[in-house]
Amino acid sequence: MASPSPRFSPEEVTVLFFLGGPGSGKGTQSANLVKDYGFVHLSAGDLLRAEQLREGSQYGQMIKTYITEGKIVPMEVTVNLLSNAMRDSLDANPRPPLDQAVFFEETVCPSELVLFLDCPEDVMEARLLKRGETSGRDDDNAESIRKRFRTFVETSMPVVDDFEAKGKVVKVQATGSVEDVYAEVKKGIEERGVHAR
Ligand code: ADP
Ligand code: C5P
Ligand code: MG
Repeated sequence: MASPSPRFSPEEVTVLFFLGGPGSGKGTQSANLVKDYGFVHLSAGDLLRAEQLREGSQYGQMIKTYITEGKIVPMEVTVNLLSNAMRDSLDANPRPPLDQAVFFEETVCPSELVLFLDCPEDVMEARLLKRGETSGRDDDNAESIRKRFRTFVETSMPVVDDFEAKGKVVKVQATGSVEDVYAEVKKGIEERGVHAR
């Protein structure tokens, strides 16, 4: 018999399983991931309890018996509840537009490390205006620089924060000389044991 194919693909949704005994902290840690990563938490136990209470459910009494006995409910029932809850969740929360870094990681290759050069706007502005004296670029002027800073704060910084939450970011103070900053960059790379390959 051919094996059935999954209803959803990993491109469509990222699934994590939390396994652990009753009271080990699955629900608690799931709530943390929901808060910091935007995951949705689907608890089999919660879904079963809701189905048990649902008016007209043909499984209500059966679920109640299994739960009271601490036994695992027949998997077809539970997996079907999970599958439908996933469909509902995907329909209710269409994907926000992907940031380019996230798109890159999903379609090309995940990054090993994110080096974030932390620099106040006044320092960056002075560097850009100086570069503008010779660069010939259309955007090295005060007005374009102001717009670029705004875009950075609104669009790029949340991506840095996301990578930060995943522990991928090495933050480097970028106000010093080129040599000073490079020393910090090297330190960050070496501390993480990153090698070119
Ligand atoms: P599970 O979903 O695995 O059954 P819960 O997340 O509901 O577990 O946690 C069971 C109980 O233990 C809850 O009251 C929760 O607040 C508490 N708890 C969870 N993690 C910890 C922890 N690391 N230390 C102490 N208490 C915890
Ligand atoms: O995970 P939770 O503690 O909410 O589970 C409560 C009960 O729900 C379990 O003891 C079991 O009867 C049922 N359950 C199940 N299959 C699962 C998860 C929970 O039958 N995958
Ligand atoms: Mg739980």
